[in-house]
Amino acid sequence: MKIVTILGARPQFIKASSLSREIAKRNEIEEIIIHTGQHFDVNMSAIFFKEMEIPEPKYNLEINSLSHGAMTGRMLEEIEKILLLERPDWTVVYGDTNSTIAGALASKKLHMKVAHVEAGLRSYEMRMPEEINRILTDQISDILFCPTQIAVDNLRSEGFENKDSKIYMSGDIMYDSALHYKTKMKRPIGLVNESSYILVTIHRQENTDDSQRLKNIIETLNRLASDGENFLWPMHPRTKKIIEASGIPVKFNCIEPVGYLEMLYLIDNCSSIITDSGGLQKEAYFFNKFCITLRDSTEWVELVDNNVNKLMNVDDSTLYENIKSHLDNKVDSSLNLYGKGNAAEIIVNELINNS
Ligand code: UD1
Ligand code: UDP
Repeated sequence: MKIVTILGARPQFIKASSLSREIAKRNEIEEIIIHTGQHFDVNMSAIFFKEMEIPEPKYNLEINSLSHGAMTGRMLEEIEKILLLERPDWTVVYGDTNSTIAGALASKKLHMKVAHVEAGLRSYEMRMPEEINRILTDQISDILFCPTQIAVDNLRSEGFENKDSKIYMSGDIMYDSALHYKTKMKRPIGLVNESSYILVTIHRQENTDDSQRLKNIIETLNRLASDGENFLWPMHPRTKKIIEASGIPVKFNCIEPVGYLEMLYLIDNCSSIITDSGGLQKEAYFFNKFCITLRDSTEWVELVDNNVNKLMNVDDSTLYENIKSHLDNKVDSSLNLYGKGNAAEIIVNELINNS
């Protein structure tokens, strides 16, 4: 059996590493990786391939830094050519990025089967590019691997039971990765000022492209820093470019993005997390850390329902007070919200059964 895996962005490398390890155990499966090139800095791409046993991509399309339409369109065109050459039994796509929708659409238009890993998630915010990508990818996938029961229920309520696609509750493949790599976590080189820090990541389009929202976030964190809170922010290049261009002063510790093994160390050693990342919301929970999410909604609703994650409106004038009142919250991560950590095994078995 031949699988073509479409990768492009940082969280996809982390998800794919677990599936690649599982595929490598099975002699009967050949995996071919197409890297769209969406993420390209060493610390956003190569470091993950180096540290995480992901096979080298056979193809790197080097398509990045374009508008949504141009990026997705160019990926579609190039992925189509490769699929015609490789003729896989399955195209596997992950999550909700432009690389995801481009891979799924190229494959489906060629009548080649698509498997969507991390299907069924909804934030119900159609202004988010990720929500558009998720909904459309689900619509054209032949197998939908859901990370949670809520994701399965979302698909059912959208009428997927009456379609030909198959839905499986696999559990969350990021949980597989966290369990596998937590014994290998690494202290980032050159890390200073390590005591009792709050880990920060902000990169979502709705928080970065709106300069007022980004300013509100940074000014609030600056104010908390002047009260004595210690922040550590591995800054996404998107955010870095915008901050540099706008000149908003950041008065706390920012570092370059780190690899996943380093990130797990930072998560494990922090006091709490402030983020707008999808993946980090779950990793906070895996490592017993309270997560403040600077978004109006989340696709990981079970975290909010179980009081381990608090959504906060960035435009709210009480953001400072809100954050301050949640920094000492504790987390019970014994709830088993994301399956058993064997999502990759379930996914590979079903790809074989359905080929
Ligand atoms: C993308 C995904 C988002 C995901 C995120 C993971 C889409 C629509 N968005 O957002 O869902 O959460 O990846 O991190 O697919 N850049 C660099 N170096 C890099 C990567 C990006 O400088 O290695 C710059 C690009 O030049 C661009 C900006 O960051 O200016 C945004 O990159 P892009 O891939 O369009 O979106 P992300 O914000 O990374
Ligand atoms: N991550 C990382 N290094 C960093 C920041 C994040 O390895 O400097 C990891 C993080 O632990 C998580 C994934 O990248 O596993 C999430 O990626 P991101 O926040 O970019 O995207 P999202 O999950 O929001 O799509």
